[in-house]
Amino acid sequence: MHQYISEFSKHIGHQVIIKGWIINIRTSKTNCFFDFRDGTGFTQCVVSLEEVGEEIFEKAKNLSLESSVSFAGKVVQNEKNLGGFEVLVQGMEIYHLAEGYPITKEDKEMGVDFLSDNRHLWLRTKRQWAIMKIRNQLIMSIHQFFQSENFVQMDAPLLTGNACEGTTDLFATDFFGREAYLSQSGQLYGEAMAMAMGKIYTFGPTFRAEKSNTPRHLSEFWMIEPEMAFYTNEDNMNLIERFIKSVIGQVLFNCKQELEILNRDTNLLQKAAFSNFPRIPYTDAVKILRGEMDYHGKNCIQTQKDDMEKFQNRIHEIEQDIQNRQDSIPTLSKGQVKFNEAKILALQSEQRDLEEKLRNIPKWIESALAFEDGNDFGNSDETVLTRIFETPIMVYNWPAKVKSFYMKEVDGNPEYVKGVDLLAPEGFGEIVGGSERETDINVLLRKIDEHGLERRVFEWYLDLRRFGSVPHAGFGLGLERLVRWVCNLPHVRETIPFQRRYGRIEP
Ligand code: 4AD
Ligand code: MG
Repeated sequence: MHQYISEFSKHIGHQVIIKGWIINIRTSKTNCFFDFRDGTGFTQCVVSLEEVGEEIFEKAKNLSLESSVSFAGKVVQNEKNLGGFEVLVQGMEIYHLAEGYPITKEDKEMGVDFLSDNRHLWLRTKRQWAIMKIRNQLIMSIHQFFQSENFVQMDAPLLTGNACEGTTDLFATDFFGREAYLSQSGQLYGEAMAMAMGKIYTFGPTFRAEKSNTPRHLSEFWMIEPEMAFYTNEDNMNLIERFIKSVIGQVLFNCKQELEILNRDTNLLQKAAFSNFPRIPYTDAVKILRGEMDYHGKNCIQTQKDDMEKFQNRIHEIEQDIQNRQDSIPTLSKGQVKFNEAKILALQSEQRDLEEKLRNIPKWIESALAFEDGNDFGNSDETVLTRIFETPIMVYNWPAKVKSFYMKEVDGNPEYVKGVDLLAPEGFGEIVGGSERETDINVLLRKIDEHGLERRVFEWYLDLRRFGSVPHAGFGLGLERLVRWVCNLPHVRETIPFQRRYGRIEP
């Protein structure tokens, strides 16, 4: 048996055996300092010549990055280390001496294409560890929330004969000679299951063949889809809000170390967990987006202009800072030079990000000002709109023509449907899409025709309106979109162990 880093607080002052990988190495004549990962956490292991003797010390000195080893030693507290402990090593066993490891620097210095090609190794970095732990926490909290509210988890099929969200982004496959599709949503099956069980949720892989190369689109992602009999869209919105608050609260409580590794500003997550989410009808959201209406004194267009000024100022600061550091390098010691070089790389990376934003914002403003009432929000519109909010917002009552066939029409105003999107703040945009469902079979038949869908494949779905039809509602949450927002990541590619998106099927 061996011990795990996550349980070190139980072993202070005692002997442990730990098994894992070397992630960083510093050596001197008489000591080797290893940063070490065992999957449950990180710690420092100190191998000293005096303690282990010549033979082991020589072997330790030859260890390479990502070599796998077992250390025996004593756990002591050391506040300076991540995790707060270190191991004073007495014995060592080497499993494998790794070859020259390709990932040698911080994520942001390695380049994203290189890292994506090496995702099977990239997963081992500290930052990816933190993201995967938060993803895991979110999955657990999602189940916990729905289970505690007496929802039944049920599984929708992944091979389907009909489309749910329109036919444009279906992955087709050959099902014993008949065309079938990979599921783009479990919702229609969810509705059938809710008529049997009252409140259900599905949690499964979802496929979209969108040729969208954006930071928010995957071809394969995980969706949580609750469906509730006897719920209106108002009830739906209340549930969405309680649900999101609950899972964010759980992450804040259980993932402090992970959020710290990611440098996540938790103030905004606190706000999301504890304040009300504004609910805004689509028609108002359009006015806010175009800068014609302020929200609590904030104006979308002005905020973008202010951002540009802020970014410009910050770039000047960065340039000055880099210049000063470069000027001082000839006068510095070796250690200080290394420190400053790393700092300069980080500053250059921040500058590149800001410059990209400065290139984008004028386009975003132009597109927001030109937004036509009745259209769907594009990525940049969601970014501009949510930039002025600190909590997620709910946009509801959407134009029928931009939403799916199954959404219920607004009473007395059939141009609009009772749909709701939850948009995450800080520019992240849509993470939830949901609605009250149409119950009138004749309206559904008309909508199926209008959307160019085939009536035949929806016959079973229409049965739900023939036998004990009830008002009902539901929504879908994209897990990766949630992870991206919670972790504050520039791109959704890092939110899933192995991304599948336009142009990426390997590794
Ligand atoms: O808004 P969508 O398309 O809604 C539905 O599929 C409904 N049938 C859900 C329901 O009411 N049961 O997708 C729901 C969510 C989006 O808000 C987004 O978070 C996520 O799924 N999503 C994607 N995530 C990653 N990559 C993509 N290509 C995504 N498309 C949708
Ligand atoms: Mg949507």
